[in-house]
Amino acid sequence: MPETSRPDTPGMERLIRPELRAFAGYSAATSPETLEGRVSVPVERIIKLDANENPYGCSPRVNRALAGYASFHVYPDDGQERLRTLLAGYAGVGPAHIVAGSGSNRLIDLVLRLLINPGDEVIDCVPTFGIYDFSTRLCGGTVVEVHRDRDFAVDIAAVKAAITGRTKVICLASPNNPSGTAIPREDILALVDTGVPVLVDEAYYEFSGQTVATLVPKYQNLMVLRTFSKWAGLAGLRVGYGLFPTGIADYLLRIKIPYNVNVAALIAVEESLKDIDYLMDRVKAIVIERDRLFGELQKVEWLRPVPSVANFILCEVLNGRAGDLHRGLRDRGILVRYFDQPLLKGFIRVSVGRPEDTDALVRTLREIGG
Ligand SMILES: Cc1ncc(COP(=O)(O)O)c(C=O)c1O
Repeated sequence: MPETSRPDTPGMERLIRPELRAFAGYSAATSPETLEGRVSVPVERIIKLDANENPYGCSPRVNRALAGYASFHVYPDDGQERLRTLLAGYAGVGPAHIVAGSGSNRLIDLVLRLLINPGDEVIDCVPTFGIYDFSTRLCGGTVVEVHRDRDFAVDIAAVKAAITGRTKVICLASPNNPSGTAIPREDILALVDTGVPVLVDEAYYEFSGQTVATLVPKYQNLMVLRTFSKWAGLAGLRVGYGLFPTGIADYLLRIKIPYNVNVAALIAVEESLKDIDYLMDRVKAIVIERDRLFGELQKVEWLRPVPSVANFILCEVLNGRAGDLHRGLRDRGILVRYFDQPLLKGFIRVSVGRPEDTDALVRTLREIGG
Protein backbone atom coordinates (compact mmCIF):
# COMPACT_ATOMS: atom_id res chain seq x y z
CA MET A 1 0.00 0.00 0.00
CA PRO A 2 1.48 3.44 -0.88
CA GLU A 3 2.48 5.59 2.10
CA THR A 4 -0.28 8.21 1.52
CA SER A 5 -3.22 5.80 1.61
CA ARG A 6 -2.53 4.18 5.00
CA PRO A 7 -5.79 3.88 6.93
CA ASP A 8 -4.31 5.48 10.07
CA THR A 9 -3.77 8.91 8.50
CA PRO A 10 -5.38 11.75 10.53
CA GLY A 11 -8.23 12.10 8.01
CA MET A 12 -9.72 8.89 9.40
CA GLU A 13 -10.49 10.67 12.67
CA ARG A 14 -13.26 12.61 10.92
CA LEU A 15 -15.10 9.33 10.55
CA ILE A 16 -15.13 8.42 14.25
CA ARG A 17 -18.61 8.42 15.84
CA PRO A 18 -19.03 11.90 17.38
CA GLU A 19 -20.09 10.55 20.79
CA LEU A 20 -16.82 8.62 20.99
CA ARG A 21 -14.49 11.54 20.24
CA ALA A 22 -14.27 12.52 23.92
CA PHE A 23 -14.30 8.90 25.13
CA ALA A 24 -11.62 8.53 27.80
CA GLY A 25 -11.48 4.71 27.81
CA TYR A 26 -11.22 2.47 30.85
CA SER A 27 -8.40 3.05 33.27
CA ALA A 28 -7.20 -0.47 34.12
CA ALA A 29 -4.90 -1.58 36.94
CA THR A 30 -1.13 -1.31 36.41
CA SER A 31 0.80 -4.29 35.03
CA PRO A 32 3.90 -4.76 37.22
CA GLU A 33 6.19 -5.27 34.20
CA THR A 34 5.50 -1.68 33.12
CA LEU A 35 7.06 -0.50 36.42
CA GLU A 36 10.49 -2.05 35.73
CA GLY A 37 13.10 0.42 36.95
CA ARG A 38 10.47 2.91 38.18
CA VAL A 39 9.98 1.52 41.69
CA SER A 40 12.46 0.74 44.45
CA VAL A 41 12.04 -3.07 44.33
CA PRO A 42 12.56 -5.62 41.52
CA VAL A 43 9.39 -6.40 39.54
CA GLU A 44 9.12 -9.89 41.02
CA ARG A 45 8.92 -8.41 44.52
CA ILE A 46 6.08 -6.02 43.73
CA ILE A 47 3.05 -6.72 45.93
CA LYS A 48 0.01 -6.42 43.70
CA LEU A 49 -3.06 -5.37 45.66
CA ASP A 50 -4.71 -3.29 42.94
CA ALA A 51 -6.91 -5.60 40.84
CA ASN A 52 -8.63 -7.95 43.31
CA GLU A 53 -6.74 -10.93 41.94
CA ASN A 54 -6.35 -14.15 43.88
CA PRO A 55 -2.99 -14.03 45.71
CA TYR A 56 -2.80 -17.85 45.73
CA GLY A 57 -3.14 -18.23 41.98
CA CYS A 58 -5.20 -20.91 40.28
CA SER A 59 -5.58 -24.58 41.12
CA PRO A 60 -2.38 -26.55 40.37
CA ARG A 61 -4.63 -28.92 38.40
CA VAL A 62 -5.13 -26.12 35.85
CA ASN A 63 -1.37 -25.77 35.29
CA ARG A 64 -0.92 -29.49 34.89
CA ALA A 65 -3.86 -29.91 32.50
CA LEU A 66 -2.77 -27.01 30.30
CA ALA A 67 0.82 -28.24 30.16
CA GLY A 68 -0.40 -31.62 28.89
CA TYR A 69 -3.04 -30.44 26.41
CA ALA A 70 -2.30 -31.36 22.81
CA SER A 71 -5.06 -29.73 20.74
CA PHE A 72 -4.59 -25.97 20.98
CA HIS A 73 -4.75 -25.92 17.18
CA VAL A 74 -8.46 -26.87 17.21
CA TYR A 75 -11.17 -24.22 17.73
CA PRO A 76 -13.32 -24.50 20.85
CA ASP A 77 -17.01 -25.47 20.64
CA ASP A 78 -18.77 -22.28 19.59
CA GLY A 79 -22.00 -23.35 21.31
CA GLN A 80 -20.16 -23.77 24.64
CA GLU A 81 -22.10 -26.96 25.33
CA ARG A 82 -19.69 -28.63 27.70
CA LEU A 83 -18.78 -25.36 29.36
CA ARG A 84 -22.44 -24.40 29.91
CA THR A 85 -23.18 -27.82 31.40
CA LEU A 86 -20.24 -27.52 33.80
CA LEU A 87 -21.30 -24.02 34.80
CA ALA A 88 -24.89 -25.15 35.28
CA GLY A 89 -23.70 -27.75 37.77
CA TYR A 90 -21.79 -25.11 39.70
CA ALA A 91 -24.37 -22.30 39.58
CA GLY A 92 -27.43 -24.47 40.18
CA VAL A 93 -29.29 -23.12 37.13
CA GLY A 94 -29.93 -25.06 33.88
CA PRO A 95 -27.51 -24.73 30.92
CA ALA A 96 -30.18 -23.07 28.73
CA HIS A 97 -29.89 -20.02 31.01
CA ILE A 98 -26.10 -19.76 30.69
CA VAL A 99 -23.75 -17.91 28.35
CA ALA A 100 -19.99 -17.74 28.91
CA GLY A 101 -17.60 -15.03 27.81
CA SER A 102 -13.91 -14.21 27.98
CA GLY A 103 -14.29 -12.43 31.29
CA SER A 104 -17.57 -11.25 32.78
CA ASN A 105 -16.83 -7.75 31.51
CA ARG A 106 -17.40 -9.08 27.97
CA LEU A 107 -20.84 -10.23 29.10
CA ILE A 108 -21.69 -6.79 30.47
CA ASP A 109 -20.77 -5.48 27.04
CA LEU A 110 -22.77 -8.20 25.26
CA VAL A 111 -25.93 -7.57 27.30
CA LEU A 112 -25.75 -3.84 26.66
CA ARG A 113 -25.11 -4.39 22.95
CA LEU A 114 -28.19 -6.56 22.83
CA LEU A 115 -30.47 -4.06 24.55
CA ILE A 116 -29.21 -0.52 24.04
CA ASN A 117 -30.28 1.72 21.18
CA PRO A 118 -28.67 5.15 20.94
CA GLY A 119 -30.34 7.35 23.55
CA ASP A 120 -31.54 4.49 25.76
CA GLU A 121 -30.76 4.84 29.44
CA VAL A 122 -28.80 2.62 31.81
CA ILE A 123 -29.03 3.25 35.55
CA ASP A 124 -25.64 3.09 37.23
CA CYS A 125 -25.38 3.18 41.04
CA VAL A 126 -22.16 5.12 41.52
CA PRO A 127 -19.48 4.82 42.68
CA THR A 128 -19.27 1.40 41.08
CA PHE A 129 -17.43 -0.76 38.54
CA GLY A 130 -16.56 1.36 35.52
CA ILE A 131 -17.51 -1.05 32.73
CA TYR A 132 -21.27 -0.39 33.00
CA ASP A 133 -20.58 3.24 32.12
CA PHE A 134 -17.90 2.35 29.56
CA SER A 135 -20.03 -0.11 27.58
CA THR A 136 -23.20 2.00 27.78
CA ARG A 137 -21.34 4.88 26.17
CA LEU A 138 -19.78 2.60 23.55
CA CYS A 139 -23.32 1.51 22.61
CA GLY A 140 -24.46 5.14 22.30
CA GLY A 141 -26.60 4.87 25.43
CA THR A 142 -27.01 7.42 28.21
CA VAL A 143 -25.73 6.68 31.70
CA VAL A 144 -28.11 7.81 34.45
CA GLU A 145 -26.13 8.00 37.67
CA VAL A 146 -27.84 7.36 41.00
CA HIS A 147 -25.52 8.08 43.91
CA ARG A 148 -25.09 5.56 46.70
CA ASP A 149 -25.44 6.85 50.24
CA ARG A 150 -22.55 7.62 52.57
CA ASP A 151 -22.24 3.92 53.46
CA PHE A 152 -22.31 2.99 49.78
CA ALA A 153 -25.79 1.43 50.02
CA VAL A 154 -27.98 1.68 46.92
CA ASP A 155 -30.84 4.14 47.39
CA ILE A 156 -33.67 1.97 46.05
CA ALA A 157 -36.24 4.78 46.09
CA ALA A 158 -33.85 6.99 44.11
CA VAL A 159 -33.25 4.22 41.57
CA LYS A 160 -36.99 3.75 41.13
CA ALA A 161 -37.43 7.49 40.72
CA ALA A 162 -34.74 7.52 38.01
CA ILE A 163 -36.62 4.99 35.83
CA THR A 164 -38.07 6.52 32.66
CA GLY A 165 -39.62 5.14 29.49
CA ARG A 166 -36.09 4.90 28.05
CA THR A 167 -34.55 2.89 30.90
CA LYS A 168 -33.26 -0.39 29.47
CA VAL A 169 -31.10 -1.79 32.27
CA ILE A 170 -30.38 -1.23 35.96
CA CYS A 171 -26.80 -2.31 36.79
CA LEU A 172 -26.19 -3.53 40.34
CA ALA A 173 -22.83 -4.86 41.48
CA SER A 174 -23.22 -6.99 44.61
CA PRO A 175 -20.76 -7.01 46.27
CA ASN A 176 -20.00 -3.65 44.76
CA ASN A 177 -16.59 -2.73 43.44
CA PRO A 178 -15.00 -0.59 44.89
CA SER A 179 -16.97 -0.41 48.15
CA GLY A 180 -17.21 -4.16 48.92
CA THR A 181 -20.81 -3.71 50.08
CA ALA A 182 -23.62 -6.13 49.13
CA ILE A 183 -27.18 -5.20 48.20
CA PRO A 184 -29.87 -6.92 50.32
CA ARG A 185 -31.85 -9.49 48.34
CA GLU A 186 -35.16 -7.70 49.06
CA ASP A 187 -33.75 -4.49 47.57
CA ILE A 188 -32.68 -6.30 44.40
CA LEU A 189 -36.12 -7.90 44.13
CA ALA A 190 -37.84 -4.55 44.68
CA LEU A 191 -36.05 -3.35 41.54
CA VAL A 192 -36.77 -6.57 39.63
CA ASP A 193 -40.46 -5.99 40.47
CA THR A 194 -40.39 -2.73 38.47
CA GLY A 195 -40.15 -4.89 35.34
CA VAL A 196 -36.99 -3.12 34.11
CA PRO A 197 -34.14 -5.54 33.22
CA VAL A 198 -31.81 -5.82 36.22
CA LEU A 199 -28.20 -6.92 35.76
CA VAL A 200 -26.75 -8.16 39.06
CA ASP A 201 -22.98 -8.48 38.85
CA GLU A 202 -21.81 -11.10 41.36
CA ALA A 203 -18.12 -11.12 40.42
CA TYR A 204 -17.25 -11.46 44.13
CA TYR A 205 -20.06 -13.85 45.10
CA GLU A 206 -17.78 -16.58 46.45
CA PHE A 207 -16.38 -14.16 49.07
CA SER A 208 -19.79 -12.88 50.19
CA GLY A 209 -21.89 -16.04 49.92
CA GLN A 210 -24.90 -13.91 48.92
CA THR A 211 -26.56 -14.55 45.57
CA VAL A 212 -29.77 -14.24 43.60
CA ALA A 213 -28.55 -16.65 40.88
CA THR A 214 -31.08 -19.38 41.55
CA LEU A 215 -33.93 -16.87 41.13
CA VAL A 216 -33.04 -16.26 37.47
CA PRO A 217 -35.43 -18.95 36.09
CA LYS A 218 -38.31 -17.34 38.02
CA TYR A 219 -38.08 -13.91 36.43
CA GLN A 220 -38.24 -12.50 32.90
CA ASN A 221 -35.96 -9.57 33.70
CA LEU A 222 -33.24 -10.80 36.09
CA MET A 223 -29.69 -11.41 34.85
CA VAL A 224 -26.72 -12.43 37.02
CA LEU A 225 -23.04 -12.28 36.08
CA ARG A 226 -20.24 -14.31 37.62
CA THR A 227 -16.53 -14.78 36.93
CA PHE A 228 -13.68 -17.25 37.47
CA SER A 229 -11.21 -14.35 37.71
CA LYS A 230 -11.38 -13.84 41.46
CA TRP A 231 -12.26 -16.96 43.48
CA ALA A 232 -10.68 -19.41 41.02
CA GLY A 233 -7.61 -17.27 40.26
CA LEU A 234 -8.14 -17.29 36.49
CA ALA A 235 -8.11 -13.53 35.77
CA GLY A 236 -5.38 -13.90 33.15
CA LEU A 237 -7.27 -16.59 31.25
CA ARG A 238 -10.45 -14.51 30.98
CA VAL A 239 -13.53 -16.56 31.71
CA GLY A 240 -16.85 -15.44 33.11
CA TYR A 241 -20.48 -16.36 32.63
CA GLY A 242 -23.97 -15.02 32.98
CA LEU A 243 -27.33 -16.47 33.96
CA PHE A 244 -30.21 -15.14 31.88
CA PRO A 245 -33.82 -15.79 31.00
CA THR A 246 -33.53 -18.48 28.29
CA GLY A 247 -34.80 -16.21 25.48
CA ILE A 248 -32.11 -13.65 26.29
CA ALA A 249 -29.43 -16.36 26.54
CA ASP A 250 -30.39 -17.49 23.02
CA TYR A 251 -29.95 -14.00 21.62
CA LEU A 252 -26.66 -13.47 23.44
CA LEU A 253 -25.33 -16.70 21.95
CA ARG A 254 -26.32 -15.43 18.51
CA ILE A 255 -24.61 -12.04 18.81
CA LYS A 256 -21.43 -13.09 20.59
CA ILE A 257 -18.23 -13.29 18.58
CA PRO A 258 -17.63 -16.90 17.41
CA TYR A 259 -15.40 -19.04 19.68
CA ASN A 260 -15.49 -16.34 22.36
CA VAL A 261 -14.13 -18.59 25.12
CA ASN A 262 -10.83 -20.24 24.30
CA VAL A 263 -9.93 -23.89 24.98
CA ALA A 264 -7.44 -23.00 27.72
CA ALA A 265 -10.23 -21.25 29.62
CA LEU A 266 -12.56 -24.23 29.15
CA ILE A 267 -9.91 -26.62 30.51
CA ALA A 268 -9.24 -24.25 33.39
CA VAL A 269 -12.92 -24.13 34.34
CA GLU A 270 -13.18 -27.90 34.22
CA GLU A 271 -10.10 -28.41 36.40
CA SER A 272 -11.09 -25.66 38.84
CA LEU A 273 -14.47 -27.29 39.38
CA LYS A 274 -12.77 -30.62 40.02
CA ASP A 275 -10.62 -28.88 42.64
CA ILE A 276 -13.40 -26.93 44.26
CA ASP A 277 -12.54 -27.89 47.85
CA TYR A 278 -8.98 -26.65 47.43
CA LEU A 279 -10.16 -23.39 45.87
CA MET A 280 -12.85 -22.82 48.50
CA ASP A 281 -10.24 -23.29 51.23
CA ARG A 282 -8.31 -20.47 49.59
CA VAL A 283 -11.46 -18.36 49.49
CA LYS A 284 -11.90 -18.99 53.23
CA ALA A 285 -8.29 -17.97 53.88
CA ILE A 286 -8.86 -14.75 51.91
CA VAL A 287 -12.02 -13.98 53.90
CA ILE A 288 -10.15 -14.50 57.19
CA GLU A 289 -7.33 -12.31 55.94
CA ARG A 290 -9.82 -9.64 54.80
CA ASP A 291 -11.12 -9.36 58.34
CA ARG A 292 -7.59 -9.16 59.75
CA LEU A 293 -6.64 -6.53 57.16
CA PHE A 294 -9.75 -4.53 58.09
CA GLY A 295 -8.69 -4.55 61.76
CA GLU A 296 -5.15 -3.49 60.86
CA LEU A 297 -6.36 -0.65 58.63
CA GLN A 298 -8.70 0.51 61.38
CA LYS A 299 -5.69 0.89 63.68
CA VAL A 300 -4.14 3.44 61.31
CA GLU A 301 -5.57 6.72 62.69
CA TRP A 302 -5.68 8.48 59.31
CA LEU A 303 -7.52 5.70 57.47
CA ARG A 304 -11.21 4.74 57.57
CA PRO A 305 -11.76 1.30 56.01
CA VAL A 306 -15.25 0.47 54.72
CA PRO A 307 -16.61 -2.93 55.93
CA SER A 308 -16.41 -5.33 52.98
CA VAL A 309 -17.85 -8.72 52.02
CA ALA A 310 -15.57 -9.03 48.98
CA ASN A 311 -11.82 -9.68 48.58
CA PHE A 312 -10.82 -6.01 48.83
CA ILE A 313 -11.34 -3.07 51.16
CA LEU A 314 -12.08 0.51 50.23
CA CYS A 315 -10.36 2.93 52.54
CA GLU A 316 -10.90 6.61 53.07
CA VAL A 317 -7.67 8.54 53.53
CA LEU A 318 -8.72 11.08 56.11
CA ASN A 319 -6.04 13.65 55.37
CA GLY A 320 -7.36 13.76 51.79
CA ARG A 321 -4.07 12.71 50.20
CA ALA A 322 -5.13 9.41 48.69
CA GLY A 323 -3.30 10.11 45.42
CA ASP A 324 -0.02 10.77 47.25
CA LEU A 325 -0.48 7.64 49.36
CA HIS A 326 -1.08 5.56 46.23
CA ARG A 327 2.13 6.91 44.67
CA GLY A 328 4.10 6.51 47.91
CA LEU A 329 3.09 2.85 48.18
CA ARG A 330 3.81 2.25 44.48
CA ASP A 331 7.29 3.74 44.79
CA ARG A 332 7.93 1.24 47.58
CA GLY A 333 6.63 -1.67 45.49
CA ILE A 334 3.04 -1.99 46.76
CA LEU A 335 0.28 -1.47 44.21
CA VAL A 336 -3.16 -0.40 45.45
CA ARG A 337 -5.97 1.16 43.41
CA TYR A 338 -6.59 4.88 43.29
CA PHE A 339 -9.51 6.24 41.29
CA ASP A 340 -8.94 9.67 39.89
CA GLN A 341 -12.64 10.59 39.91
CA PRO A 342 -14.66 13.01 42.04
CA LEU A 343 -16.69 10.46 44.05
CA LEU A 344 -13.58 8.52 45.11
CA LYS A 345 -10.98 11.25 45.36
CA GLY A 346 -10.21 10.60 49.02
CA PHE A 347 -10.08 6.79 48.77
CA ILE A 348 -7.79 3.92 47.93
CA ARG A 349 -8.89 0.31 47.39
CA VAL A 350 -6.72 -2.49 48.70
CA SER A 351 -7.09 -6.09 47.53
CA VAL A 352 -6.72 -8.80 50.16
CA GLY A 353 -3.38 -10.54 49.73
CA ARG A 354 -1.55 -13.21 51.72
CA PRO A 355 -0.85 -12.53 55.42
CA GLU A 356 2.70 -11.43 54.57
CA ASP A 357 1.29 -8.92 52.06
CA THR A 358 -0.93 -7.44 54.79
CA ASP A 359 2.10 -7.18 57.09
CA ALA A 360 4.20 -5.45 54.42
CA LEU A 361 1.35 -3.07 53.60
CA VAL A 362 0.75 -2.09 57.22
CA ARG A 363 4.50 -1.61 57.83
CA THR A 364 4.78 0.59 54.76
CA LEU A 365 1.68 2.62 55.68
CA ARG A 366 3.28 3.32 59.08
CA GLU A 367 6.55 4.28 57.36
CA ILE A 368 4.83 6.70 55.01
CA GLY A 369 2.75 8.09 57.88
CA GLY A 370 -0.18 10.48 57.67
C1 LIG B 1 -17.83 -5.86 39.80
C2 LIG B 1 -16.98 -6.48 38.74
N1 LIG B 1 -17.57 -7.07 37.71
C3 LIG B 1 -16.87 -7.65 36.73
C4 LIG B 1 -15.50 -7.64 36.74
C5 LIG B 1 -14.77 -8.22 35.57
O1 LIG B 1 -14.25 -9.43 35.82
P1 LIG B 1 -13.71 -10.33 34.65
O2 LIG B 1 -12.28 -10.55 34.94
O3 LIG B 1 -14.52 -11.57 34.70
O4 LIG B 1 -13.92 -9.60 33.35
C6 LIG B 1 -14.82 -7.05 37.80
C7 LIG B 1 -13.35 -7.03 37.81
O5 LIG B 1 -12.70 -6.37 38.54
C8 LIG B 1 -15.59 -6.44 38.81
O6 LIG B 1 -15.00 -5.81 39.83
